[in-house]
Amino acid sequence: MRKLFVIGIGAGNPDHMTVQAINALNRADVLFVPDKGARKSDLAELRRQICDRFVTNPKSRRVEFDVPVRAEPTSSYRVTVDDWHEAIAEIYEGLIRDELAEDGCGAFLIWGDPSLYDSALRIVDRVRRRGNVDFELEVIPGITAIQALAAAHATALNRIGDSILVTTGRRLTEEGLPANAGSTVVMLDGKCAFNTLANQDVFIQWGAYLGTPDEITLSGRLGDVGAEIEKVREAARRRKGWIMDTYLLRKLGE
Ligand SMILES: C[S@@+](CC[C@H](N)C(=O)[O-])C[C@H]1O[C@@H](n2cnc3c(N)ncnc32)[C@H](O)[C@@H]1O
Repeated sequence: MRKLFVIGIGAGNPDHMTVQAINALNRADVLFVPDKGARKSDLAELRRQICDRFVTNPKSRRVEFDVPVRAEPTSSYRVTVDDWHEAIAEIYEGLIRDELAEDGCGAFLIWGDPSLYDSALRIVDRVRRRGNVDFELEVIPGITAIQALAAAHATALNRIGDSILVTTGRRLTEEGLPANAGSTVVMLDGKCAFNTLANQDVFIQWGAYLGTPDEITLSGRLGDVGAEIEKVREAARRRKGWIMDTYLLRKLGE
């Protein structure tokens, strides 16, 4: 039977690769490398660097594939994502069927960890449910942007005995900071959703391009540093053409 690895490659630093990830990378005959287009070619480049540095299996080959761009939501966000995932599932199915021998082994390289805000595992599950191609699956965990953020700020994520919420910029805007989580990690925020909390006494620890040579970190009371983060973020986004940032929020005085 075919075998598929879904490998977490870390959040931007090739040194995030674990020994387990390197071993899995070298067990694969085919490495599937997504190319998300010129705008995020730095991300594809990091995957190439990882392959160049860690792949020692002489039989391994790389297959690059295009990921379709998600349409702007028309009716519902979930329907749009569903259609998009179906289109990617078709591509994955074709890659597994056409690029892997009956007993071949392939690997998808996933940014950070596959379990966190990434749809590869849901899509692989879809491919299996379509029933056209069968395979064994093994997931290799990776270092997430959240761990990279905590390390960059040399901070523990949780307050003693307290809980942590991981959420998106969109949800932070809609729902605000939860009363029952001491710490809130915000990802996938294209619009500086922290601005919606400007009137609250909140501490922010922010990081962009974490783990990469372009890493930027800023921290302080939101009221003091929020505007600066927005300015620095926008300048960096313009300079590089893309940005990935994550931040940790904590209410002060509680
Ligand atoms: C689609 S999610 C992927 C998360 C990834 N699976 C992980 O484990 O970190 C993309 C979001 O992760 C965060 N992110 C990923 N890499 C990052 C990095 N190097 N620096 C800052 N944030 C990052 C950003 O919030 C970005 O919008």
